[in-house]
Amino acid sequence: VTASLAPPTDTHFGYWGVSYSHSHICALKDSSVIMSCTYTYPTGYKIMKVFWTKNPVMGEEPPDLSKDPEYSQRLQYLGDKQQNCTIRLSHVRQKDSHKYCFRFITDQPDGKWTGYPGVTLTVTDLQVEAPERVTEGHNVSLTCKSSCTLTDRATFIWYRNSQPLTERRDGNNQLLLQSVRREDAGRYSCALQEHTYISPAVYLNVMYPPTESFVTVNPSGEIVEGDLVTLNCSSDSNPPAEISWFKGGTFVGSGRIYSISKISSDHSGEYKCKSRNKHGEKDSDAVTLNVMYPPKTISVSINGSAEIVEGDPVTLSCSSDSNPPALNFSWFKENQSSAVGSGQSFNALQSGRFYCEAHNQHGSQRSDAVAVTVHGVYH
Ligand SMILES: *[C@@H]1O[C@H](CO)[C@@H](O)[C@H](O)[C@H]1NC(C)=O
Ligand SMILES: *[C@@H]1O[C@H](CO)[C@@H](O)[C@H](O)[C@H]1NC(C)=O
Ligand SMILES: *[C@@H]1O[C@H](CO)[C@@H](O)[C@H](O)[C@H]1NC(C)=O
Repeated sequence: VTASLAPPTDTHFGYWGVSYSHSHICALKDSSVIMSCTYTYPTGYKIMKVFWTKNPVMGEEPPDLSKDPEYSQRLQYLGDKQQNCTIRLSHVRQKDSHKYCFRFITDQPDGKWTGYPGVTLTVTDLQVEAPERVTEGHNVSLTCKSSCTLTDRATFIWYRNSQPLTERRDGNNQLLLQSVRREDAGRYSCALQEHTYISPAVYLNVMYPPTESFVTVNPSGEIVEGDLVTLNCSSDSNPPAEISWFKGGTFVGSGRIYSISKISSDHSGEYKCKSRNKHGEKDSDAVTLNVMYPPKTISVSINGSAEIVEGDPVTLSCSSDSNPPALNFSWFKENQSSAVGSGQSFNALQSGRFYCEAHNQHGSQRSDAVAVTVHGVYH
């Protein structure tokens, strides 16, 4: 691109002009940009000063960019005082996006020149464009966007959770993830090879149905009537699953934790949880709650008649409901403090009111008394 406003001339050799190799440059943030140009002027002039300026306004004396504190540290003049006016601007940032022109001043009052229209520099960052969420098994394509077109030679590289991805690069600035797996979820960013700048990361959320539903029971050991028991349903899914609880086949509650504050024997049974999200559902294996309790509903039964003749024993037998079953029984005669017998059955040989007491490791309970009448034998 040849500078405009060159004075009319029949021959371009030796006349005023600045020629830039590129009129537009798209540069990546943090990179170094070389703006190359050459300049000419008629013979007989001596170059006194060469400099670059930005956004020059015609009719105003443009300032020297190298005197601008925003630029002075980053600007390096690579040209000379004859014909080469190349500069390098390093660590470019987005606010460097301007129009830059080369100006030179000679030893003669009319011998000043600004090369319009200069170089338009656009500094871009990179942005990952990705769907907010994708379902496992679907294909997804991520794009590394720049606000201007970077050179064709640019090679994009991709990172997941800051680790470079070596495979599945597709197209120039696209990353194609085929049949997405849940392990593909993560923070994606992109960069250009041989550049330090890395785009902000974008989270790719991979949705999948519940897997591995399972129940843990607290306490994990023996459960005794009256205990606080919590069932915890764990499942892996995205989004988190809604949990339903079933005892046998009957729905009993929802929520990840199913809690029974004072467990009773009625709560014994098989429990499972169902995890469900919009992508699917999964049943856990069943867990069995076996609630232990001390003997209750103790009763004494009499074999044969409660009224018998002396010499024939009456056999009383004690039954109880308990978990585990009671193995230990004591027999008492009302109004006597010490036991008169042991074992599940007892032979009463005299009249009286008898009761039994059943024991397991969780406690004991006594029955109501039963009356036995033994008639004397009259000789
Ligand atoms: C101008 O100078 C730069 C830096 O020294 C060099 O790379 C470039 O080739 C030169 N351009 C011309 C046209 O001589
Ligand atoms: C994903 O891409 C592959 C290859 O292009 C294609 O065979 C497959 O059908 C696509 N899968 C889906 C879910 O679109
Ligand atoms: C339920 O189990 C999960 C692990 O599977 C654990 O992180 C969580 O703390 C448990 N919740 C309760 C209330 O025990």
